[in-house]
Amino acid sequence: MSEIDFSKIPAHVAIIMDGNGRWAKKKSLPRIFGHRQGVKTVKNIVKAADSLGIKVLTLYAFSTENWKRPAVEVKALFSLLVQFLKKEFAELNEKGVRLRILGDISKLPENARKELDKACKETAENSGLQLNIALNYGARQEIIRAFRSIAEKGITNPDEDDISNALYTAGQPDPDLLIRTSGELRVSNFMLWQIAYCEIYVTDRLWPDFSRKDLEEAIIDFQKRERRFGGI
Ligand code: IPE
Ligand code: IPE
Ligand code: MG
Repeated sequence: MSEIDFSKIPAHVAIIMDGNGRWAKKKSLPRIFGHRQGVKTVKNIVKAADSLGIKVLTLYAFSTENWKRPAVEVKALFSLLVQFLKKEFAELNEKGVRLRILGDISKLPENARKELDKACKETAENSGLQLNIALNYGARQEIIRAFRSIAEKGITNPDEDDISNALYTAGQPDPDLLIRTSGELRVSNFMLWQIAYCEIYVTDRLWPDFSRKDLEEAIIDFQKRERRFGGI
């Protein structure tokens, strides 16, 4: 903790929360147990991010490709999401957390959609941590959606701002630090536009085991990097 430079906290941290299945497998448990433990990590990490002074935290929870999983697993994931929102909403709201969903939630089960809409609406005026949850999110789909909305507005010669403003993350700074747990060296269709100059940190730690200390280690590593943005 003492190694962290609090004047250089990344404004936006994005996390590919991976490894729930492997965590469960290691313990000879069904995959859903890993997801359940993963939700506990979400709770801890949101708290930690807030207290470290991170302004925007984006969590990749369900990709457009995750529909390929068995229907029972998909169903369990959304039911965990609803449970999380019901259980944690009051505390998050009290802390001033503002929730935004990145992705097309129209395809989600109705109770999940309802809880999400409610949580987003009721926290819209909060001014604390901006929490983005990427749900049924795919970066390519996000970009297609942006291009369509730009065309609908009649913008024929879009610039970078036009595109950024048409993404789910409109108005937010791009991620400074992208963390992926469980060691996979890939992006899996996540924030392709926004991570253009993001620093990437991959840890072997499985998401259910990821702790505040791991987040701090990622930040310490980030603070040692020299970001050049193409300069010298
Ligand atoms: C991440 O854990 C959670 C989601 C993608 C929903 P996984 O379920 O992908 O876990 P592994 O990769 O199988 O270990
Ligand atoms: C990425 O994890 C998506 C989320 C964390 C929601 P996956 O487990 O779906 O990624 P792949 O399949 O290993 O690329
Ligand atoms: Mg995975």
